[in-house]
Amino acid sequence: METKIYKYPTEKEIECIGKMLRDGCVVALPTETVYGLGANGLDETAMDKIYQAKGRPSDNPLILHVPSMEAVTPLVREISETAHRLMETFWPGPLTITLPKSDLVPYRATGGLDRVALRCPNHELCRSILQAAGVPIAAPSANISGRPSPTSAEAVLHDMKGRIDAIVDAGNCQIGVESTVVEVNDNKVTILRPGGITKDMLEKVVDTVVYDTHMVTGNGVPKAPGMKYKHYAPDGEMTTLVGDPLAVAREMARMMTTLSGPIGLLISQEAYEFLHTIVDVSKVHCIIYGHHQDDTSLANKLYASLLEFNKQGVTHILAEGVKSEGMGVAIMNRMEKSSDHRIVIVKK
Ligand code: TXA
Ligand code: MG
Repeated sequence: METKIYKYPTEKEIECIGKMLRDGCVVALPTETVYGLGANGLDETAMDKIYQAKGRPSDNPLILHVPSMEAVTPLVREISETAHRLMETFWPGPLTITLPKSDLVPYRATGGLDRVALRCPNHELCRSILQAAGVPIAAPSANISGRPSPTSAEAVLHDMKGRIDAIVDAGNCQIGVESTVVEVNDNKVTILRPGGITKDMLEKVVDTVVYDTHMVTGNGVPKAPGMKYKHYAPDGEMTTLVGDPLAVAREMARMMTTLSGPIGLLISQEAYEFLHTIVDVSKVHCIIYGHHQDDTSLANKLYASLLEFNKQGVTHILAEGVKSEGMGVAIMNRMEKSSDHRIVIVKK
């Protein structure tokens, strides 16, 4: 099939994209986190096409995207007071809330679960398309399952060309890592996947916020089925180093001497400035994410850097991580998976 590209679509095109989605097409959409692979969330056949295009295991549920809080009512059995408060505070934005589903939502959307995940993206064009579609839009990240999520239309095209009906191109995504997924029970919130809305931010609104035990210990069955699969993996073997930037640079330099094949470095400005005084980096693919510990910049560049390293045929990636605090929790959750748990804590 030919994949049509809509770059910054006009109002007329937005109507047309909405109709395509309503009628069962698969269209990649920009959001503030990553690009999503959208299809009618009430249409099982349309959602089957998402699973096929991604090569996604069918027990991994999809997030239903809505243009407003009002659109949630028919999709759930009830909206608790806590859930309501979360939506009022963080929507539109990178918070996905799972609630008991109504009969209207097919089990295909929830991977057989009785809860449905709901999100209202903070992306105006995306919300206009959701509004035009008039149905909830199921949308996982628009990558082949297991690969890094796309934060640009080019990255979507790379994975999805010829596999989906269209891509809406609205440039780079602002945040760069996926939404926080939470389950709400009475007045307790459980974080199933960390993301742009941090635990601290949630605690300002609800009394009890905990991480799903699987997220913390890696034991048991994760409540977000997607958390158990191989994820965000670049082609090269990646190691993540965390610590003081000079110590990280020194350890990177040491590791580089032991590696053969093209190397990719994702590194802070401070670590890079020291690194290039102690080792020859002229043949290395270097991406500077920003200043040391700048979570926002690293989140924004992480997936794009991994995809760039794939393009360059890099076989080994050394990446500088951040402290697991605030937004850093989400970043390190992704980097740990990209690195297949090769995390090195570097001492000064
Ligand atoms: O930022 C995002 O959330 C992006 C954009 C496109 O909106 N979407 C995204 O979707 O990351 P996906 O499918 O790649 O990840 C959804 C995660 C998975 O880990 C899935 O298991 C979990 O949410 N999830 C979905 N529905 C769930 C449910 N009913 N209960 C528990 N976890 C659920
Ligand atoms: Mg994903």
